Amino acid sequence: MPGAADIARNEKLKQRLQFYEDLGLAPFYRDRTASSSESAQSQPPLSAAVSSSHPIEEAPLPKSTLKSAPAPPIAPPAKSVAPLSSSGTSLFDAANKLSTETLLQIRDDLGECTRCKLHSTRNKIVFGDGSPKAQLVFVGEGPGADEDAQGLPFVGRAGKLLTQMIEAMGLQRPDVYICNVVKCRPPGNRQPEPDEVASCSPFLFRQLDSIKPKVIVCLGATAFQTLLQTNRSISHYRGQWLDYRGYKMLPTYHPAYLLRNPAAKADVWKDLQKVMAELGLEIKKKAK
Ligand code: URA
Repeated sequence: MPGAADIARNEKLKQRLQFYEDLGLAPFYRDRTASSSESAQSQPPLSAAVSSSHPIEEAPLPKSTLKSAPAPPIAPPAKSVAPLSSSGTSLFDAANKLSTETLLQIRDDLGECTRCKLHSTRNKIVFGDGSPKAQLVFVGEGPGADEDAQGLPFVGRAGKLLTQMIEAMGLQRPDVYICNVVKCRPPGNRQPEPDEVASCSPFLFRQLDSIKPKVIVCLGATAFQTLLQTNRSISHYRGQWLDYRGYKMLPTYHPAYLLRNPAAKADVWKDLQKVMAELGLEIKKKAK
């Protein structure tokens, strides 16, 4: 009889395999028992590679492709859309980027915040979670019910999916930093309103300047629009390297969107592979 621990492990494994299947990676693990000619046929493109930390056997890519590949140039936006950039060219931006402020100091300054109306309905402030020295920061929109209850970002259903994505990159949650544009839950999970974003986003900017990550991944439109101070649609820019005041920034779909549109997971996985290449994380390809 399998014990509770075995059942839990099997369930976790099942969810992980389902996740890889959603990403379009199913042939990797199916091929392990297939004949070599079958595997050649079902081999996915090189770009659909995954890290060594999960049970998928692949040969490493040549070293040159694993090291911080230069970011592809920003693709020209659609005709009607002007190029986006928020390069840190002003003295103000330059000074902010020299910040030696710690996350604790920023959290202290936030205090029991009452700067916007969200304070009156929140349960807990969700400041952020993870390594203060993370090379990779994920920025979401704002806490949902689970986050509001626990005071931690991305711990609900969307959070579980984000955790799977992080693990598929060969990382663990404590390796990265996760935060949101607004730190208090908007009632009924509505989008944060402009005055709420205006009050709260300076704390996000300070968090980013404190961490100084190599890469920022914006999860969804609110994070993308807030960092780039634009109201343009994320859809033109998803998966492209952009510049946020000198930081490399890549917008991708929000995990909550992926829960509603699982077919978009493959796009997000491609985006995350770009991030992995930029961070020098091992991307493996399938053995011949
Ligand atoms: N969605 C977000 O944008 N952030 C969270 O922390 C949870 C869900």
